[in-house]
Amino acid sequence: MERPALELAARDILLGNLRRGTAEWNGQEYSFVVPSLTGYPFQWFWDSCFHAIALIHIDCNQAKAELDTLMSAALPNGFIPHIIFWESEKRDYFLSKNLVARVNPNFSSTIQPPILAYAVERVYQATGDEAFRERSLPVLVNYYRWLKENRDPDKDGLLSIIQPEESGIDCSPKYDEILKLTDLSNQGFIEALNRIYSSYELIRSDELSMLNADVFHVEDVLVNSIYALSLQSLARLLGDTDESLNTLNDASKTMESLVNKCWDVDTEAFLDLNGLQEIPNRTVTISSLMPIILPDLSPYIVKRLVEKWIMSEDHFWLPYPLPSVPASNSKFIPGDPHGFIWRGPSWINTNWFITKGLKLHGYQELADDISAKSLACIQQSGFREYYNPYTGEGLGAKNFGWSTLILDM
Ligand code: GLC
Repeated sequence: MERPALELAARDILLGNLRRGTAEWNGQEYSFVVPSLTGYPFQWFWDSCFHAIALIHIDCNQAKAELDTLMSAALPNGFIPHIIFWESEKRDYFLSKNLVARVNPNFSSTIQPPILAYAVERVYQATGDEAFRERSLPVLVNYYRWLKENRDPDKDGLLSIIQPEESGIDCSPKYDEILKLTDLSNQGFIEALNRIYSSYELIRSDELSMLNADVFHVEDVLVNSIYALSLQSLARLLGDTDESLNTLNDASKTMESLVNKCWDVDTEAFLDLNGLQEIPNRTVTISSLMPIILPDLSPYIVKRLVEKWIMSEDHFWLPYPLPSVPASNSKFIPGDPHGFIWRGPSWINTNWFITKGLKLHGYQELADDISAKSLACIQQSGFREYYNPYTGEGLGAKNFGWSTLILDM
């Protein structure tokens, strides 16, 4: 597919999934792209950031509107929810099928990978719009301050998540053990989630108590790689200020902890730390490769990630890479997961991250190969939620928003 045709097709998805209006519950105007009109008809945090990045290639004003809408959902304490139910009339039906942690009925009380400052920086670079940068900065500063103060209890620079949806890769097999998952199905996963939700029932608005409860306390590699990347963006957006220097120090601290605490010399991959005891989680998934997006990673580590994992046909190098779980994992499911997602198929957003990282570290050809194979999936089946890594067959939601990230690969 030539670039103009691809842009037209992506425009159809992004503008087709656009929702504009005024929310009944808070009187605020919204203008954003839903991940999917049928399956996910609200605003999701990291999806929105991906939509804004794809929109840079199509409609910069809409890219700004997307992020402005997301940031308008920030609470006074800085927190930004991972789902915002702008169109509340659709909420009850969605909640009858999905579990969402809430303190307020209109938005979730949990986070998603904090890629917002990176997305704001990309939109600012594309538009040069100072007013956009200036109105975003206080929201960003408060948001990253909230994360630091509420989600890093041991102050090692690594954020902890309190339930699997917070990483965006909900049912990844890397969480099976901590979730005590025995029934390996979407139903089993929902039951495990219910157990966590019950443990938090009386302490839902108290972040520290939830972390101390140690029922699902994960210093997650994917979340923290995105956190460090975004803190670097925030530092640049802040310009020549003390706040910028502090933010850069925070980014370095996270980066150092990823290397010092999560890099495992035997596995040659980055491992999550589980629980207050920080037990390394030995299940390698796409998340274990994510620090490759960080500019300061040592060439040696990058080389090991590339040679041992990414380019290995036993692990991630399948006909349509990169699967969310290496083929060597006994729980790897390449085909239709029936809702039990992130356990095999390849996703465009993680390919977007990994190709960015590969290019940054000089592996341009490999990155181009992954981008070409991602495009082949889209040509074959359209913009789907995820793809079978052996056949490229599209799976999950149709007309899926963030697969338009191909425009940025
Ligand atoms: C699924 C994904 C999550 C995404 C959401 C909306 O829950 O696991 O990452 O944000 O769908 O697309």
